[in-house]
Amino acid sequence: MTLSARAGSFVFVAAVFLSLLFFYTAYDKETKTIVPEKLLAVIFFSDAAKTWSELNKVAALAAIGLISCALIVGPLSKMFPKAFGKLLLYRKDVGIAGFLFAFLHSAYSLFVIYGLDLNKMLFANPKWIGFIAAALAFIIFFFMAITSTADAVKKMGYVKWKLLQTTGYAALFFAVVHFVVLETRTGKGLDVRPYGLLFLALAITALVVRIGLLFLRAPQRTGFEEHIGQTSEKDS
Ligand code: HEM
Repeated sequence: MTLSARAGSFVFVAAVFLSLLFFYTAYDKETKTIVPEKLLAVIFFSDAAKTWSELNKVAALAAIGLISCALIVGPLSKMFPKAFGKLLLYRKDVGIAGFLFAFLHSAYSLFVIYGLDLNKMLFANPKWIGFIAAALAFIIFFFMAITSTADAVKKMGYVKWKLLQTTGYAALFFAVVHFVVLETRTGKGLDVRPYGLLFLALAITALVVRIGLLFLRAPQRTGFEEHIGQTSEKDS
């Protein structure tokens, strides 16, 4: 990983986070416009509970968005190596950043929203499917994150490691189920601000693109370095 690739990933992650603050947090559902005062109220903790709740949603959206970007680059770089091959250099850092946001969101939700109460999470939760889906997604993303080093690949063996990485798409599917179940309200349908819906669309696109790859006979990668753009692949 070169310094410029790391800096590029950082700029991208920061841009996604700031864009969420501006286009999601500052969006006013009633007037359907961007209201900067809404963002200022959140940033300056006018109502601390509201600020934490908003930051939790921003973290959730940053997580699903960044992880989708890290995943979608894989199939796209196989389908269109010239256009997307270079982006492989950023996928590891962007994926890890996505996982860190998922970790913050999960921890806040488990401790503050559910108060670590199994009844609230599962037994008395009408949206228990959304909770189970979140837990499965988190567990898979966790294992993907801790095995994202060349050392881990050596220890696990490439075939097992690649299988685990492929389950990332199942985890993204679980995250989409979680998103839709938790944000669907009776009588209102999917109740998410437009910029949030864009992140849902991105995740669904990543899944569709991966399924599309099944129908193409793209060459298989044969080593960890190829997944993160650190070798010149035959197909790129
Ligand atoms: C055990 C782990 C998790 C728990 C307990 C959890 C819990 C929650 C809760 C309670 C909400 C509703 C928040 C609110 O309306 O204020 C939510 C929303 C959401 N979660 Fe999770 N979550 C977990 C893991 C994840 C993961 C791994 C992802 C994605 C990578 C994710 C993505 C989302 C998204 C995108 C939303 C919708 C945000 C919005 O627009 O309001 N969650 N989650």
